[in-house]
Formats: sequence, structure tokens, C-alpha cells
Amino acid sequence: MPTKPEPQAWQDPLIDVRDLSVHFELRGGILARLFGSDTGTVKAVDGVTLTVGRGEVVGLVGESGSGKSTLGRALLGLVPATDGSILFHGDDVAEMSRRRLRAIRRDIQMVFQDPNAALNPAMTVEEATGDALRVHGMKSAAERRARVVEALEKVGLSPVELFLSKYPRDLSGGQKQRVVLARAIILDPEVLVADEPISMLDMSVRAKILQLMLDLKQELGLTYVYITHDLASAKYFCDRIAIMYLGRVVEIGPTDEIFANPRHPYTRALLKAIPEPDPERALPRDLLRGEIPDAASPPLGCSFHPRCPEAFEKCGWESRDLRAVIEEHWTRQPADVYGAESDTVGDLAHLDTPATVARIGGKGAESAREILHRMRSERPDEPFWRGVDRVDDDGPGIRVVFHPGEDPALRSSDGVEVACLLYPESS
Ligand SMILES: Nc1ncnc2c1ncn2[C@@H]1O[C@H](COP(=O)(O)OP(=O)(O)OP(=O)(O)O)[C@@H](O)[C@H]1O
Ligand SMILES: [Mg+2]
Repeated sequence: MPTKPEPQAWQDPLIDVRDLSVHFELRGGILARLFGSDTGTVKAVDGVTLTVGRGEVVGLVGESGSGKSTLGRALLGLVPATDGSILFHGDDVAEMSRRRLRAIRRDIQMVFQDPNAALNPAMTVEEATGDALRVHGMKSAAERRARVVEALEKVGLSPVELFLSKYPRDLSGGQKQRVVLARAIILDPEVLVADEPISMLDMSVRAKILQLMLDLKQELGLTYVYITHDLASAKYFCDRIAIMYLGRVVEIGPTDEIFANPRHPYTRALLKAIPEPDPERALPRDLLRGEIPDAASPPLGCSFHPRCPEAFEKCGWESRDLRAVIEEHWTRQPADVYGAESDTVGDLAHLDTPATVARIGGKGAESAREILHRMRSERPDEPFWRGVDRVDDDGPGIRVVFHPGEDPALRSSDGVEVACLLYPESS
């Protein structure tokens, strides 16, 4: 068992997320139901375990739709947990009454990406910043003003008198985000959940706002959950980084370690996709192939396997992968070849129902086999072929049988945790 001392942060957990799932039922409109689409369950967060230590900056990083915002919102009780728990000071946010949740939202504040949406255009800077004080029962206008002035000074809006009576339209994007931060800290919270707080700002002010957030953290003893799809800013800002993919944490560890020695193929792909500041030196990038799968119907086995360059036999190959490789193959064929092959293979729609045995063909097993053979010799390195256990004849077609897959759990591997079958449990 591990003998390494655990990082300080884990000994003083402020937020302790255990096996958290947040699912959304998609009911869909009448048309969607008629056509059988957009119904089912989106597993926006699917079994996440994560600790945030006091004073730590933990990054949640991943592509669009990976569940970062949903996880962030769940920490404040803004979306209900389907399963699991979120302990804050030892109490479960998921089971709190409304009244307790209101108190939590004082202690855990959220900062969103768009300061324009966050600020009411009809409120002055003073009103916007002090509004929460009023809501929480501070009656004296003089007291409120003193607190507002103090908060605005902390976020670097000075001279403060100049800003108090301004409206959002009078401010630059960076100044607006400073007002949003002033509003977030005015109730003396413990935690800020910052959801893409700089992504809508001009390049020139992004670093300044991050620096301001670091200064505030130092001065006020804050803890941050920083949500971003941008690993470069996470590197600068975070103590630890959790890489998310389709509702799961697939790798988590100290920032330096994630950058120096990324384990998960998804993490490696994200790191390669960071733009090189000097274009002369930019390396050709191995961008991720394929699209992010539908979270309402994730791939079998490891969710990342259809896009993974290192996927191997156990990763969860299935019928939808067969459809994807056939269609990808057809994009490279002339029209007549495509016509003949699609006639032989037949309709592929049934492959969308996930299965570890996939049937295709209808015009003779031999001709279907030939197509597979041609595809394979054109792209022998395609990971998909590692997943095929065997191909059997099946009446007028064939049956592609895949190796049984496994869904990798998050396990520790030399100082980080990673959910990938390339990294079996270290003993
Ligand atoms: N209220 C909702 N109802 C239904 N589905 C939702 C809801 N909120 C989020 N989702 C779905 O949950 C998944 C995760 O969404 P989420 O917004 O948490 O991702 P994200 O990582 O923050 O993405 P982005 O980088 O685009 O902000 C997506 O598939 C999204 O469509
Ligand atoms: Mg989001």
C-alpha cells in the first residue's frame, strides 16, 4: 500500500466530493420523441471523486461538454446530485435544506465567464457590488458603502470614487470582471468556483485578472476551483489539475506532474493542442481525431477509446466504432467504389445501438469480408483493428466480434491518479 506522505491539501480537505453523479433527463419535444432522438439521460457528471484542500487551487480542465460547469454548479447546490455526496465542512451539500444552501452560497461563490451577463446593466458599480450585503440584511447604507469601497480597492479599481457611480456600459471587460470579483468576495467567502473567468476577456488583460485572483487568494485565504478548457492558464494558476472527459475525471495530480509526465492519452492530446506562442517553432500537432461523443450515449468501455491513438483490445470496442471506421474509409473512396461497397455492406443505422457483436452485409459473406480486408490494409495502424477478436460468417453477411472491454477506474500511479487501462493498479 502507498507509503508516500499525502500532499498537505488532502489532509485538510475543505470540499470532499465522493462518487458524485449529476444526470439530466432529456425528455425532448414531441418531434424529438417521434424521431427517437434527444431522449434518455445525459450523465453530465458520472461518478466523480475529488478533494479540494483548504487554500488550494484545483483546476477542472476538459473540452466542451465534459461536465466541468455542472460539477462546479453542484458544489454550490445549484444542480441536484443524482448520486454521491459533496461534503463541505463535513456536511453534505447534496442533502441540505434551502436555508442551509443559502448559507453555503455565501461561503462558496461562483464567478462566471461573461461579466456582461453577470452584471445588471441598470445597476451602478456600487449597487451591484453591495447588493449581496443588502440581501443578507446589512441595513446601514454607510456600512455597506464602506464594505463596497474596501472590496473595490481589493480588486484594484481605484480611485474607487471614480467607479462607484459608473454603469457596466462605462467599463472595459477587465474592469467588469473586477467588479464581478469584488461582488464575489464581499461576503467573505471561503471558496470561489471560477468558471472560465478570463475566456471572454481580451488577451492583454487575462494574465492581469489571473494575477489579481492569486493576490486575492493570498490576501483573503481563499480556495479556488478553476474551470477552464485552456491548459496554458491552468498551468499558471493551479496547484492540482483534474482532467475531465465525458463526466469523469480521467487524470488528476499536481500541475507540475501533469505537465511533465502526462499519463492519460487524452491529457497528452490536450497538452499537444496548446498553441505554441512562437509560430516558427510550432510543432505539427496531433489534434484529436473524431468528435466528442454524445453524453447521453457514451462509448462502451473507456469513453475516450474511439478517439484514442493508443487504444488496444480491452478498451471497449463496439458496433458504433465499426460504423465510424467504415464511414471514414468511404470519405477516401471514389464515388463508384463507395457505391459498390455501401450496396454490399447495407444499411449501417442498426450499428448505432451499442453492441460488442456487429453484423453487416447481406450480399454474401465473402464480399463483406473483402471490404473489411481492404479497409484494414489501407489503415493497418488504426487502433480499431486491435479491438476485433474475430469475424464470423453470418448468413448472407458477417459478424464482427469484439474483444470484451473494460471501463477503467481512477487509480493511483506514481503520484497521480489516472483512469486508463494502460496503467494497471501499481502494487
Ligand atoms: N440543464 C441541463 N439539462 C440537460 N443537459 C445538460 C444541462 N446542463 C448541462 N447539460 C449537459 O451536460 C453535459 C456537460 O455540460 P457542462 O456544461 O457541465 O460541460 P462543460 O464541461 O462545462 O462544457 P463547456 O466547456 O462547453 O462549458 C453536456 O452534455 C451538456 O449538454
Ligand atoms: Mg462550462
